[in-house]
Amino acid sequence: MNKLFKGFLFIASCISVMHVTAQKKTIDQKVDSVLRLMTLEEKIGQMNQYNDDWTATGPVTLDSDKAGQVRKGQLGSLLNCVGVDRTRSWQNIAMESRLKIPLLFGQDIIHGYKTTFPIPLAEACSWDMDAIELSARISATEASASGINWTFAPMVDIARDPRWGRVMEGAGEDPYLGSMIARARVKGFQGNKLGDLNSLMACAKHFAAYGAAIGGRDYNSVDMSDRLLWEVYLPPFKAAVDAGAGTFMNSFNDLNGVPATGNSYLQRDILKGKWNFKGFVVSDWGSVGEMINHGNVKDGYEAALSAVTAGCDMDMESRNFKNHLAQLVKDKKVPMTLVDDAVRRILRKKFELGLFDDPFRFCNKERETQALNNPEHPLASRSVAEKSIVLLKNENHLLPLSKNTKTIAFIGPLVKALKQNKGFWDVEVPGVDSNFIVSQWEGLQNKVGAGTTLLYAKGCEIEGTNKDGFAEAVAIAKQADVVILSIGERRDMSGEAKSRSNIGIPGVQEDLLKELLATGKPVVVLINAGRPLVFEYTVEHAPAILYTWWLGSESGNSIADVLFGDYNPSAKLVMSFPRSTGQIPIYYSHFNTGRPARSDDNHNYNSSYNDLSIYPRYEFGYGLSYSTFLYSNLQLDRKQMKPGGSIDVSLSVTNLGKYDGEEIVQLYLRDRVGSVVRPVLELKDFSKIKLKVGETKVIHFKIDTEKLSFYNQKMQWVAEPGDFDIMIGASSKDIRLKDEFKLVK
Ligand code: GLC
Repeated sequence: MNKLFKGFLFIASCISVMHVTAQKKTIDQKVDSVLRLMTLEEKIGQMNQYNDDWTATGPVTLDSDKAGQVRKGQLGSLLNCVGVDRTRSWQNIAMESRLKIPLLFGQDIIHGYKTTFPIPLAEACSWDMDAIELSARISATEASASGINWTFAPMVDIARDPRWGRVMEGAGEDPYLGSMIARARVKGFQGNKLGDLNSLMACAKHFAAYGAAIGGRDYNSVDMSDRLLWEVYLPPFKAAVDAGAGTFMNSFNDLNGVPATGNSYLQRDILKGKWNFKGFVVSDWGSVGEMINHGNVKDGYEAALSAVTAGCDMDMESRNFKNHLAQLVKDKKVPMTLVDDAVRRILRKKFELGLFDDPFRFCNKERETQALNNPEHPLASRSVAEKSIVLLKNENHLLPLSKNTKTIAFIGPLVKALKQNKGFWDVEVPGVDSNFIVSQWEGLQNKVGAGTTLLYAKGCEIEGTNKDGFAEAVAIAKQADVVILSIGERRDMSGEAKSRSNIGIPGVQEDLLKELLATGKPVVVLINAGRPLVFEYTVEHAPAILYTWWLGSESGNSIADVLFGDYNPSAKLVMSFPRSTGQIPIYYSHFNTGRPARSDDNHNYNSSYNDLSIYPRYEFGYGLSYSTFLYSNLQLDRKQMKPGGSIDVSLSVTNLGKYDGEEIVQLYLRDRVGSVVRPVLELKDFSKIKLKVGETKVIHFKIDTEKLSFYNQKMQWVAEPGDFDIMIGASSKDIRLKDEFKLVK
């Protein structure tokens, strides 16, 4: 490259750096220029968020003069305020304030707005990052067209206890998969750039370790080693930071005795320190004030002190910042620099979202109408839903059903349900019928031809002991060629504050299955739930089982697509399914112990139960297809690697079935000997591939030092020389190919 050209390049790069710096500096300068004008009361106002009166997602404090507080600049954000009309009216009030600082509108856009997608735990079972990102993207497009600019999502809490109802919001038990999904969801919500009109600012929650609540009891304490925290519970949060999440939400739980909201180790040392997070942290609902209940602070004054000092920048709903921060500053308990840092973080996001340029940019009625009526959105929901349905059992290839089936009996309390299919954390959209759902019944009607007769009976309720409906159900079953039974939980039996001590299928639904099986007819069972349930009778006796979760707007159509083979199921579980509640917590990446249970023998002084297997009913990574896949020809380009080196892995997968399909090929590793014990296997990579009938594809993975690393006794992130097993599985138990390699000094 000649000197002249080099010189030109250098000048050009300097100009671009100056331009970028100038642009970046512009936002920081604008923030500072606003900050300089603000009174202490106005600064505290930005740190204050209330629930609007549209709906509530926690215990509400009634405030009559919210509008007055907005006019006085004492309120910086509202949540649960949806729709162009409502957000515009609030923003108009904000424009009457002295500094005209725009309001932020936050909402739990967890799995859809008008178009509802499968619950996040179901979507996670797709292991399809494009599908998961698309779901968040469409959710953001619809919600941002309705005046909302901030979503309290993704929830990235690792969860290993299905008694905890909030497993439905997350991505299951594995940190590697959970991190990939966190990244996909942040990208989906925020789009290419924070502030794109179709984007929502993301909020990674709940920071941190909320999913490890003791006993699976929501809001309960969490106690864990630093190693477990860093190796399992923090990685998805770090992935969210790396993906550019604009905000974090702290959590209700205390972690090792310190409430997360007042936990400076989490919020300052890790998030804002080590991870250099530039966004802001909002409390979870009234978690600032709840530190009094925790017994960590005496009163609201101390709660505000603890929270703001520990790195909580915005107080949702508790009003302790509003009521005590000014006095804390006057008492020199809280330096103004701390308040300024919090306010800068909040204002910076408002600038990045373009709200200072145009406070009404998310409030366009025409765009709202167009976005909420886009015919592509339900189609996308249907596609994501199909990919989320898990085929658990399919004896004698009962599924897929023939479209020439003459008579089908569709039975159960969820067949004609509508809103149930939305699961928890759906959004009540102004002017939209919340029953805007394709029911399972309607989906079947849409699918079958004139030659097929559909019969219906409810059979029983979800809960209760009443069996009066059994006779009618049995009667139509006897007339049918095949029976489909749709059973499960109520949608609000999982979600926030929905912990269950017994996660069996409620009521008499499995009794109904027994009566239907007694007719001798083949029965396909659909299980609808927001969590892994225990359903041993169904597992033992039903010939075919589909786990259909809560699939959202297109439930019926997506289930029908799978039932009749228009979509070959490809989903795999992201949480272990216990045989009994008594097995919980249960997860695949466990340690071997000094007395590992070799199999299901329960009596030889080993780490097992005397009354039950230690193995889950269905393991992490499990899910069937209508096809079968052959794994072959595992190759490692070397059997030894040095720190900093890598090993290229390849293998072949062939579709031996009669249907084109998809397979999620999983790569697990085991470090046989470590200075601290290591799991019997850990997911370190995966690949979801499409294969036509008879097709073979070669898949490649790369093993690098990062995939071998863990925290040693000094909490140093290290990879230790030694022997490693590599396992390629169709699940964490169904290991198809194995090999080994060494990490050498
Ligand atoms: C709730 C939830 C949190 C949600 C927030 C606002 O209590 O814990 O996930 O984002 O309040 O609705």
